[in-house]
Amino acid sequence: MKDDGYAVRAEGLEKRYGEKRALDGFDLAVRAGTVHGLLGPNGAGKTTAVRILSTLIRLDGGRATVGGLDVERQAREVRARIGLTGQYAAVDEVLTGRQNLEMFGRLFHLGGRRAKARAAELLEQFDLTDAADKGVGDYSGGMRRRLDLAASMILTPAVLFLDEPTTGLDPRSRGEVWDAVRALVAGGTTVLLTTQYLEEADRLASRITVIDRGRSIADDTPDGLKNRVGGDRVEVVVAERSDIPRVVKVVARVSDGEPESDETELRVHAPVTDRVTALTDVARTLQDEGVRVEDIGLRRPSLDDVFLRLTGHRTETTEKEAAA
Ligand SMILES: Nc1ncnc2c1ncn2[C@@H]1O[C@H](COP(=O)(O)OP(=O)(O)O)[C@@H](O)[C@H]1O
Ligand SMILES: [Mg+2]
Repeated sequence: MKDDGYAVRAEGLEKRYGEKRALDGFDLAVRAGTVHGLLGPNGAGKTTAVRILSTLIRLDGGRATVGGLDVERQAREVRARIGLTGQYAAVDEVLTGRQNLEMFGRLFHLGGRRAKARAAELLEQFDLTDAADKGVGDYSGGMRRRLDLAASMILTPAVLFLDEPTTGLDPRSRGEVWDAVRALVAGGTTVLLTTQYLEEADRLASRITVIDRGRSIADDTPDGLKNRVGGDRVEVVVAERSDIPRVVKVVARVSDGEPESDETELRVHAPVTDRVTALTDVARTLQDEGVRVEDIGLRRPSLDDVFLRLTGHRTETTEKEAAA
């Protein structure tokens, strides 16, 4: 396996928990200096992959390297080059942001003066200087995640694993974390980011691997992936089933693809490129024609759309929700 230019490589990774195959021939190749998205629903195997790559658990089959170093045979050397941020922050609630970072610095044997200086640098980089001397218990979700990111950057790792860094955050906090990740990569760190959000992978990653049931089912650029799924769509829900053919005609005029309709949900949707013009045109025309519209909007493709397109089935979480 050649590792030229790759910060992380995995080939045919396997991990079993009893009968459960958490990873089942998982492949991955992450170019150095990039953000690589690992996109998949709950239970797909993202955390298992990250835990193997960061040497926290052993693999049952296949091979993986980080910076050309084997995660099994050179685990100690791998550990010296990586940082890991989990889904749950590891910082201490009682301490201030600054105290937390200084404590991590001393844990990593930086020495008091260097630990202080590094903490100040990181607080600045993650836009936490104003909140530095407040207790972490008073931080917002976004501030917590940024502090967690800062803590994993104490030693400036070559490769950083971010496991669902924005799950559960509100949109504003999510944007703040995105900015922090961008700053990291500008500093030269390679990031492997797991996420359940197509939009997040699209915003941050230059390449995306889609994982389903422990296997990689696609590896593409965000644009390549979105093209396969079909980009933004305009969507109209009507009150009367008999209006559907009329709506299909109106929507077809602004669409660059085939409108699709759902007779049960009284829904018509179609791919569009000029999002806002398309939406205003459709809304105005339907109003002029007196069609009763229950709902109208633009829909970005979701992880679920990606799955439907790639696998022919929806994500298991959505199937369970639909069945409930
Ligand atoms: N320690 C464990 N023991 C048993 N099953 C596990 C364990 N960790 C993960 N699994 C199972 O392996 C599969 C993949 O889990 P995980 O890697 O956590 O997925 P993700 O992070 O994508 O949500 C899931 O079915 C999960 O239930
Ligand atoms: Mg997980």
